[in-house]
Amino acid sequence: MLEGFSKEASTFAADVDRAFWITTGISAGMLLLVVGLMLFFIYRYHHSRVVPGEIRNIKDHLPLEIAWTVIPTILLFVIFYYGYSAFRELRTMPEDAFNVDVLGKRWSWTFTYPNGKITSELYVPEGENIRLHLHAPLGDVLHSFFVPAFRVKEDVVPGRETRIWFKATVPGRYDIECAEYCGTGHSRMLSKVEVMKNVDFEAWYASKKLSPHDEGAPESEGKQLYKTLGCASCHSLDGSIIVGPSFKGLYGSKVRVLTSGKPREVVADDDYIRASVRTPEKDVVEGFPAGIMPNLSDEIDAEKMKAIITFIKQQGGQGAGTKTIETPVAGPNQEGKTEAEPKSEAQTKSSASTETPDGATLFKTKGCTACHSLDGTRKIGPSLKGIFGSTQKVVTDGKTREVTADEAYLKRSIEQPNADVVEGFPSSVMPPFGTMLKPDEVKALVTYLKGIK
Ligand code: CUA
Repeated sequence: MLEGFSKEASTFAADVDRAFWITTGISAGMLLLVVGLMLFFIYRYHHSRVVPGEIRNIKDHLPLEIAWTVIPTILLFVIFYYGYSAFRELRTMPEDAFNVDVLGKRWSWTFTYPNGKITSELYVPEGENIRLHLHAPLGDVLHSFFVPAFRVKEDVVPGRETRIWFKATVPGRYDIECAEYCGTGHSRMLSKVEVMKNVDFEAWYASKKLSPHDEGAPESEGKQLYKTLGCASCHSLDGSIIVGPSFKGLYGSKVRVLTSGKPREVVADDDYIRASVRTPEKDVVEGFPAGIMPNLSDEIDAEKMKAIITFIKQQGGQGAGTKTIETPVAGPNQEGKTEAEPKSEAQTKSSASTETPDGATLFKTKGCTACHSLDGTRKIGPSLKGIFGSTQKVVTDGKTREVTADEAYLKRSIEQPNADVVEGFPSSVMPPFGTMLKPDEVKALVTYLKGIK
């Protein structure tokens, strides 16, 4: 459960709360005064209680005018003083601090410490200045790092470093939340920060343990990776569907995937898992959107891959009983796969080099269908039914204008989707495909969209 503001666990908490309560108190006092006077006047000056000639207009009453100018100004300065002094404290980074790198991405938090330790929860010593360097991968979206108990919150911006600092005062575990709506997994983009006694922190920091709570044997490397790489935010271990397929009972099971838009059945063996991590866009499990899983090739080497495969095996499944990775689960499947592989490889190659790519296929495989319908229903993005030649209201540089959806418009919308954003739809959701598609692929998509009546 989220604990919200019920705890005060950093040096800022008191100042921020004081600023909050002073502002709230003054506002509430003003409200009572104004409403009270209003009710009093309604009662006192009701026509039945007024003797004609009793009321006179007040004109040019200097003391009154000075009073209602000076008093609100003083109140405003009181609010400003407490607000600003707390804010200045929050924004002045201490020189002498323990630095932790924070990666916020869809939809997980990862913390990297100066000695190279990587965790999925943040561990900090009590009473020390902690400075966080916040990052999001390029191509990701805005997140916001928020620890209510510390009263700190800062946006996490792709391609830019932001910073916050705090000094935790009370040992305990506190919530970390994402405070910027960032898509399907936003509400699960949670973690914890644990404030530890200095000695406990030092002992953990020098140890090999991922979490200070690992008793005895440290967690398997696969499980650690499952947490720190962010797999956990999309793939459950209990069979429930989060964003992607669950890992429960996955190993050795038959999976229906779409390969270049064509459905086929594969066995979830070592090769399949390896391919799903290295080239997630190649085989997409049927019923799940393409283009969401990041390509983790750079972060996972052969050793880590082995650990992940072992971990997925531990989650059960038909082939999970087989202990050695080398033993194929079932001969025919292995063969079936090698048979299918070169074929699809050859298809992609030939289509890339000689034939014009097929727009309909691209539309499916590049994940367009996740956001754009073809039948007029509204998804995340506008429907593309009858798009060609239609008039679109778009926002360009913050100004609304009308454009005709001609070829140039379609091309631009694919290559730089955020140049013109259709009114009523969020910007920066669609990735710029200009960098991901070849010119003739864009052309094929435009031709395909022209045919959508
Ligand atoms: Cu990340 Cu909301």
